[in-house]
Amino acid sequence: MRKVLVIHGPNLNLLGEREPQVYGAVTLEEIDRTLGAKAAETGVELKIVQSNHEGEIVETIQNARHWAEVIIINPAAYTHTSVAIRDALSAVSVPTIEVHLSNIYAREGFRQVSHVSPVAVGSISGFGKDSYLLALEAASRLVLPPKKK
Ligand code: DQA
Repeated sequence: MRKVLVIHGPNLNLLGEREPQVYGAVTLEEIDRTLGAKAAETGVELKIVQSNHEGEIVETIQNARHWAEVIIINPAAYTHTSVAIRDALSAVSVPTIEVHLSNIYAREGFRQVSHVSPVAVGSISGFGKDSYLLALEAASRLVLPPKKK
């Protein structure tokens, strides 16, 4: 079974009540439930983590190197600010898929810069909760690099 770690960054725990005109009415619990159902269908073993803390996300990524075969991450606001999260992803070399609910390239200038994109296999942005489902689909199809000894 392919092992996939999903990381939700800061403020995503407030989905549903947070700027619904931008992020929709869906809650994080609903997203996680849908991901769980799709994972079961596609034979993916899923772990899901949400954190509002940069250092905690860095540690989650570091610890993932012993388990995860693919990381799906919505770094939320840290996308645009965090060299630490980018470096952690780069350090563990677990193939990573970047996800955003909104299309960050159609929003404010500061959101159009992602520190994570250059170390990701690819990015999915703008499809609401389907961004996560598309990422899970991509994660299940990804050809993995050979395991390091
Ligand atoms: C987001 C986009 C970010 O710019 C923002 O800070 C978020 C959510 C998205 O999923 O669209 O918190 O990552």
